[in-house]
Amino acid sequence: MPLSLVSTALALLSITPALAAPTNNLFKRAALPAYALTYAPYTYLQSGEAWFPSDVSTHLKHMSVESNFKNVSTTVSLKTLNTFPSSDYLTSYDNVETNPAWLTSGYGKPNSKGYSAAPATIIAVEKNGFVDVFYFYFYSYNHGSLVLGSRVDNHVGDWEHSMIRFSTAGVPQNVYYSAHSSGTAYTYSAVQKVGVRPVVYSAAGSHANYATAGTQEIYPIIGDIVTDTTDAGTYWDVTQNYRGYYYTNATGVVTNAGGVDVGGIEQASETVDWLYWSGMWGDEQYPTSDSRQNCALGIDDLCHYQSGPTGPLTKNLGRTAVCQKEDGCTVKTSL
Ligand SMILES: *[C@@H]1O[C@H](CO)[C@@H](O)[C@H](O)[C@H]1NC(C)=O
Ligand SMILES: *[C@@H]1O[C@H](CO)[C@@H](O)[C@H](O)[C@H]1NC(C)=O
Repeated sequence: MPLSLVSTALALLSITPALAAPTNNLFKRAALPAYALTYAPYTYLQSGEAWFPSDVSTHLKHMSVESNFKNVSTTVSLKTLNTFPSSDYLTSYDNVETNPAWLTSGYGKPNSKGYSAAPATIIAVEKNGFVDVFYFYFYSYNHGSLVLGSRVDNHVGDWEHSMIRFSTAGVPQNVYYSAHSSGTAYTYSAVQKVGVRPVVYSAAGSHANYATAGTQEIYPIIGDIVTDTTDAGTYWDVTQNYRGYYYTNATGVVTNAGGVDVGGIEQASETVDWLYWSGMWGDEQYPTSDSRQNCALGIDDLCHYQSGPTGPLTKNLGRTAVCQKEDGCTVKTSL
């Protein structure tokens, strides 16, 4: 800036009272609060998992952008993502049936210490009387479940999350586990923990989050014909590599909080715009005329391939209830 402006700015600084230290409100653009990492989920990928965590920026390198199955752009990046309409679909260059390396994301498989080269996305939201910290897990592919012998609900791009609600003093109160279009909420004291960290089990292929290991009935399908499987397979410690943000519910504004390691290094040169994009992170559901597609009993929900999901800001970050779907949200007091 010109020198005259600098001196004006300095003059203003000297007459402006010092900003009060943050009290209840966390300082924007500061790092995430320490408790968000101290109590972060202790995440287990299922031992048979073959579709690993993915870095959103790596995913985009393998995507074109389509509108009504027509290419509108052959390239897209975190920087340009939010220039596309929310009705667009990120679409794989590769035929997903060839299992390209970016789709299985072997590079994102956590090592023996829990470190994944794919940064998680952690978003803190200060609310009136509490702070919700969302831990988002991104995978480039969702390998669907078997329903009566057919595999349904494969899709490119997969966003899942768990959320811990803290008091403003940083004491954990509740934990939410997203699973398919819904999820389950518990009190913090009810859930299994390693040390102080709630255990989150990620189901094989679908990556749905559960509080327990075992066979999980997929809500809301009644009966146990469709299940997820979880176990204490590969430990993923999201605190070792993440992109961190604050989201202000009243204004819808996202600010950088910074991450560590790879995510932190990348994030320093990134804008937050990509989070504002509310389009789909994977291919639009292939039509039945596509030889890869097959819909059991002709039912749309039972198609082999479904559309990719929308991103973190569409998951009701402004919620008051603990659950993403607030109506009828029950916070369970035991597992
Ligand atoms: C989109 O266009 C690019 C470049 O022409 C092409 O390589 C790619 O296969 C197209 N994507 C799809 C899904 O048709
Ligand atoms: C977040 O914003 C939405 C929309 O303005 C509002 O309905 C909701 O109550 C807010 N959430 C909280 C926790 O204040």
